[in-house]
Amino acid sequence: MGGGSVFLFFLVFLLFSSATACGGCVHQATAAHFTSFSALSVGACGYGSMALGFSGGYVAAVSSALYRGGVGCGACFQVRCKNTKICSSRGVEVITTDLTKSNDTDLVLSRPAYVAMARRGMAKALKKLDIVDVEYKRIPCEYSNKNLSIRVEEKSKRPNSLTIKFLHQGGQTDIVAVDVAQVGSSNWQFMSREYGPVWSTDRAPVGPLQLRMVVTGGYDGKWVWAQKEVLPVHWKTGSVYDLGVQITDIAREGCLNGHTEGWK
Ligand SMILES: *[C@@H]1O[C@H](CO)[C@@H](O)[C@H](O)[C@H]1NC(C)=O
Ligand SMILES: *[C@@H]1O[C@H](CO)[C@@H](O)[C@H](O)[C@H]1NC(C)=O
Repeated sequence: MGGGSVFLFFLVFLLFSSATACGGCVHQATAAHFTSFSALSVGACGYGSMALGFSGGYVAAVSSALYRGGVGCGACFQVRCKNTKICSSRGVEVITTDLTKSNDTDLVLSRPAYVAMARRGMAKALKKLDIVDVEYKRIPCEYSNKNLSIRVEEKSKRPNSLTIKFLHQGGQTDIVAVDVAQVGSSNWQFMSREYGPVWSTDRAPVGPLQLRMVVTGGYDGKWVWAQKEVLPVHWKTGSVYDLGVQITDIAREGCLNGHTEGWK
């Protein structure tokens, strides 16, 4: 285990053991919607046009408090507008793909996601409102037909320079450390977060490669192992590789300032 990983593991442990229990705190906020789809395909999380295929195009740009320097990329939220005449109580489930530059709202939803908050027949009325009061909570991301995967980014250069982007991260957790090793070896090399879901190292071992990650879960961190061959010897940039595992953990968050657990 690399020194960085040990440190992170205990940092996570400390952070989460001091918080009070709350699985999905409900927050009061406002939400707006993107007027064009192109705005979404250049999201700060670096998913590019791939984001349009996430969650049926139900994606969101979030405030810096939710973006958390990119750690929040790929996190899922349930959002519902508070105008019960126009909006359903179920709301919509969105995945974070971008940071909003505006300070006016906490969430900027894609047009399809925004409209999906409406009651039947009320989509037009909702679309007329540029901004609405909402409540939202973080929820587990569910990928019934997908394992956690990585895309090898273009800047990688075999064998030692490796940059990967995590895709389809299930559960309600954050990845806080990533290590890579040759299959069968216990000589793990830590990777560093470049931004959002992208991690890199200039000291990757020669393939085939396995991965392990520390994710926040419960009140502390836990290891997620992908001990099979994730990357072959001749891994390719631009390719997506399946880790053969999925994350289902739910990290607890502390509910502060009267935020309640569950919808009112
Ligand atoms: C948003 O708020 C931050 C910090 O208060 C400020 O630095 C930034 O300029 C604001 N952005 C806009 C677009 O008003
Ligand atoms: C996910 O990984 C498991 C275990 O390696 C594998 O059996 C399964 O086919 C994978 N699922 C998908 C959707 O690729």
